[in-house]
Order: sequence, then structure tokens, then C-alpha cells
Amino acid sequence: MQLPNPFSNFKLPGKKADSVSTQTDPTPLPETKPTSSNSIQDVVAPKKIEIDFDFAKINDRFYRTMFVAGYPRFVYPGWLDPIINFDHSLDISFFIYPVQGKTVLDDLRRKITEMEAEIATDIQRGKILNPSTEAKLEDARGLQEQLVRGAERFFQFSFYITIPATTLEELNNITAQVESTLGSLLVVAKKTTLRMEDGFLTTLPLGEDRLSITRNMDTTSLATTFPFSSAELSSDRGVLYGINEDNDSLVVFDRFSLENYNSVIIATSGGGKSFAVKLEALRSLMFGTEVFIIDPEQEYKRLAEAVGGEYLSFSFSSPAKINPFDLATVRGEGPASADGSGEAKENQLALKILSLHSLFGVIMGTLNPSEQALLDRALVATYKAKGITPDPATQTQKPPLMEDLYKTLIGMEDQVSKSLADRLEKFVRGSFTGIFDQHTNINLNNPFTVFSVRDLEEVLRPIAMFIILDFIWTRVKENLKKRILIVDEAWHMMKYPDTAQFLYSVAKRSRKYFLGLTTITQDVEDFLTLDIGKAIVTNSALRLLMKQSPAAIDRVGEVFKLSQGEKQLLLASDVGEGIFFAGANHVAIRTVASDGEYKLITSKPADIVKQTTDYSLQSTITQQGPAVAQQQIPMSPQPAPPNTPPTHAQQAQLSSRWPASPSGGLGRPIYKVEEE
Ligand SMILES: Nc1ncnc2c1ncn2[C@@H]1O[C@H](COP(=O)(O)OP(=O)(O)OP(=O)(O)O)[C@@H](O)[C@H]1O
Ligand SMILES: [Mg+2]
Repeated sequence: MQLPNPFSNFKLPGKKADSVSTQTDPTPLPETKPTSSNSIQDVVAPKKIEIDFDFAKINDRFYRTMFVAGYPRFVYPGWLDPIINFDHSLDISFFIYPVQGKTVLDDLRRKITEMEAEIATDIQRGKILNPSTEAKLEDARGLQEQLVRGAERFFQFSFYITIPATTLEELNNITAQVESTLGSLLVVAKKTTLRMEDGFLTTLPLGEDRLSITRNMDTTSLATTFPFSSAELSSDRGVLYGINEDNDSLVVFDRFSLENYNSVIIATSGGGKSFAVKLEALRSLMFGTEVFIIDPEQEYKRLAEAVGGEYLSFSFSSPAKINPFDLATVRGEGPASADGSGEAKENQLALKILSLHSLFGVIMGTLNPSEQALLDRALVATYKAKGITPDPATQTQKPPLMEDLYKTLIGMEDQVSKSLADRLEKFVRGSFTGIFDQHTNINLNNPFTVFSVRDLEEVLRPIAMFIILDFIWTRVKENLKKRILIVDEAWHMMKYPDTAQFLYSVAKRSRKYFLGLTTITQDVEDFLTLDIGKAIVTNSALRLLMKQSPAAIDRVGEVFKLSQGEKQLLLASDVGEGIFFAGANHVAIRTVASDGEYKLITSKPADIVKQTTDYSLQSTITQQGPAVAQQQIPMSPQPAPPNTPPTHAQQAQLSSRWPASPSGGLGRPIYKVEEE
């Protein structure tokens, strides 16, 4: 029934497969120093191998192999995903043996005759028919028909899993988890008890099935076991994020189809984070999504100008002002339009005072409980002086300013309030006046609004980012619209617990307001060592990891649960390359921009200088008169620039290369999945 395994004669070069030394005595062998007569095999071979009933111990690591003994009756494409994407390293081997049609048909005919005879006998004896025999007979007839018609081919399939672990306890735990995951797929797995060595060797990439525990499968069922089913992320909605590195398909995705709409992007400086985000912003804007950007580097200016967006720069002399004391005009927690009843409403004043506490925590430094209580009283009194109380009707009054709080604190005439007022003074009278001490004079009417804080001092940036984020958040809550809020260089906000906490609270609640928060950071240490940073990652269904530095890779690997291969990929990534995680799926991605997009979004000084030179040249030519200027217009279509995203026709051509043969084409009977 089973074809001879074409790889059965394969041996490790220079070493017989069955010459692996096995011993049951757990005492370690004396360490042998490699002498000149030792071969390379002696050097790389493990120091000891201990084979027990239901595990193998090689050096200090434990291994247990399981084989699949029972399969579900119905399978669907990607049904093995839970085990392929299992949250622990597993070595998984599939062996696929083509079986000759004639032999199978003979066998099937015999089986069908047997089952028909059984049923006929039952009927004769007046017995109730065995439903399992009936089902099997039906399946067998169906298969026979398919085989005769040549619509299906027949295979034997075997499936083994080796679980590595550092301790026996861990091994037992993981085994139980693997068993229950397989159980949920209606797959029965058993340990290769007393044959652990054979099991282990079977899952090595040697192509040697020493256990031969097979089950027949037809082509369609076999195709559903194909393990790389998550490799494509092409949806018919959303924006183009890039090109799938594995199969050149397009990664088209709608972040608003995930469980939350947040994303995080982590890479080294110059890895292509801002570039990828600008592309997403530009493309999302075309589909009617509003985009707000907090830009600490003045990188988004050209883009904003090109799309007719608003670019607000915050500095002492700039006209744009935000008053941190502004109240939202919507009253109530929850989207305004979704909740017209007024129930479960939260007091906007209380919410505002809470966020002001965080803000003054940053401005004034850490406050002790009595200072906090005093600040609270001062804030309430400042609002009250302007006629604003918890009564929603009063909250449409003009809000107070920073100076009003300062005056209230001075007016309290005690030592603590005086010290708080002193700490606030530089924002009202001192060097930091002019930005956040006047009434708000901006709005969010433009669907593409950029807030730049580059012209502010380093110490003021987190404060400014906080105030802007609070301003946007307050406005976002007023009405429901599809929006993306991008916080570039978000590590600025991680510097203070209060600002970090605020960013996290936006990430947590943004979904309810149809808002996708995009957090970009290059500082892995600052971001991922903090619990809040990790919580923001957890609250982001979309994640893009791009080039990582060797110093950061372990931390990233730990938080994102990356395999060795994925870590290597990120270390070796080029600019613009990385791994794109969307919900449970992830793909290797390369972000691509068209020539026009590239010109708008590049931040490379060389490109910008070139563009400026080209622009001044162009203006000189234009000034010389239209006849000369016209000569500059190319008469024939330009060849497509190398980084233009493929058109649909090109895409079809690219896709036709898939599924080529990730493991060497159909002629090779073994598909081997390795997870390290
Ligand atoms: N996919 C890409 N294709 C072509 N060029 C790219 C790509 N990604 C990035 N670049 C180039 O690399 C430059 C740097 O990328 P980017 O500004 O995105 O870096 P970054 O990761 O945001 O770095 P930083 O953390 O320093 O801001 C871009 O301005 C662009 O010129
Ligand atoms: Mg950047």
C-alpha cells in the first residue's frame, strides 16, 4: 500500500543514522576534549542522549514526539493553523506518499464489497444498521468515483510533532497543551512511547519516516493540510501596505476590520517606520479616513501641503494655540450619536480635571498627596470662577486659562499653593509662555491635520504632545468618523508615567470612537520594558516590525513571540522591510511607494536637497517663457519607476507564481515544516 520512501536510504554524511549513541544511564559522559583524530561529527555530536519511555533527553534539553492516530472526518483549508502557529517551538513533520491508483481501486472495491455484505447481512437478520458502516460506505463510494474519474489522486499521509523543552515539567505542560489544541481540532495524538529515538529522528529534517504511521488522504483533503496558509494577507478592502516578500502578493488590508484599529510600528532609526505610516495615511485619506498626526520632527509638512491638509506648528511665536482647559462639547462617555438618551453619561468636567492632574503631574513634577488635594481644589475653584460646574448646562461657558489657575493658586495664600504656583509660573509669565496659555484658536475641520512640536524645547515636547493628544481625543469624542491618529516618536510620551498612561488610555478606548491609534517608536528599551508600552502593543491588533538592532532583538522577540527565523529576518531586513502582523496572521512585507508618493514622503536629506534644486531649476525655466518650459515636458510616457506598486495586471502575474512550490514542487513527496 505504501510506496517505498524515496529518502529511506538517506544518511547523515559520514555518520550512520542508527549509530547515534543511546544510553539509559543519566550520568553524563566524561567530557572528551577534541583531539586531532576526532572527526567533525564527534565535535558536533551531543555529549549525551538519554532515551526514556516517553521522552528523550539530549544534552540538557527534553524532547517528546507525538504521532497523529486519528483525524477528523471533515477538514477545511488551514485547519491545522492552531498547531502550526502554536505558541511554543515545535518541530512538525508531514510525510506524503503518493499511492498508485490501481492498487487503491482494488483495495477500495474489496472494502466496499465487505461493507455492502455487512449491511446486507444486518438487513437479512433484521438488525438495526450500523450508522458508522453506512457513512464509511458512502465515503468509500464517493472516493471510488472520484478516483475512477481521475479527479483525485490518492496519498498516504503521516504527521508527527516533536516538542522541545528545557525541563521535564515544561515538557509535560506543553504536551498537555498540544494535546488539547489537537483535541479541539478532533485530532487524536499519541506519544511515541518506547520509540522516542525514532520519533525524534523522524522529525529531524532528514526526510526519514521511521514510524510509518500513515493515513490515507485524497488530493483535496491533503491540500487542506498545507501549512503556510497564513502567508497571504490580500483582502478586497483596505489599503496597500506593501508587497508580501514570500510570494509577491499584495498586502492589502483594512485595519478597521480587526478587533481594534490601533497599530504599533517598531524599528531602528531609518528603518522606514515613518515612511510606511505616511504611505498608509496617504492611501487611507483617499478612502475617506481622516488623519491626525503628531509630528515631533516636522517630517509630514510636504505631505500635508500636497494633500491640502493643515499643518499646525507649535512654538512660542506660532499663531496656533490650544487651551488645555477646554471641555468637550459632547457630554457623556460613549459616542455622541450612539447615545442620545443621556444615560451612563460621564461628567466632562470630572474627566477634564483628571487629565489636567496628569498634565500638571508632568509640568510640576511629582506631587505628594497634599499637593494633589490642593491642586484639585484649585482646579475646581478655577472652573467655578468662570461659572463652570459639574452641571452640563454650565459647560458651554468660556473655559479658564492657565493664568486663571495661577491666580487661584496665588490667591490661596499658603505655602503649598505658593510652591505650586511657582512651578507653574514659567508657563504663564516665564520662558514657556505663548503656546498653552491662551484660548484655543484651531479646529479639526481639515481631514488631514498635522501638529508639529519640533520647534519646542526637548523638555516641552512630551507636555505639548500630551496637550495635543488630549485636544484631539476631546474632539474625536464629539462625533463618530473613521479616523487615524498617528503619534510619531511616541517614546517622548513614555518618558513620564502620566503621559504614557494617557497614551495607553487612548489606545484602550479608541475603538469605541472609530479611531485607530498608530504608535511609532524607535526606542525598544524605553517602550517595551515598560508595562504600559507592552500594554499598548497588546491593545494594537496591527503591528509592523521593521529592521531591528542586535541589542533590541531579544526584547522584541520576547514581546512579539518571534521565532529564531523571524528574529534573523528582522536583523537582516533592509530599509522598508519587516513583518506585518494583522490579528492572528503575519507576513514578511516590503513597503513600496510610487514615484510620486516617494517624492512627497521621503525624509532623506539627499532627496530633499535634490527636489529643492530641481524645483528652483524648474522655476527658472518657467520664468523664461512657456515655449522653453514646454520643452521640459517629456513627450513619451516614462518607464515605470522601480518602486511603483504593481498594477492589477502585474499583480495577477505575480500571483500566478503562487503557489509555486515552497518545498520544492509536487514531485517531492515530503513537506517539512520547521519551527524553531
Ligand atoms: N519602503 C521604502 N522604499 C524606499 N525608500 C524607503 C522606504 N522606507 C524608507 N525609505 C527611505 O528611508 C528613509 C528613512 O525612513 P523613515 O523616515 O521612515 O525612517 P524612520 O524609521 O522613521 O526613522 P526615524 O526613527 O529616525 O524617524 C525615508 O525617508 C526614505 O527615503
Ligand atoms: Mg521617523
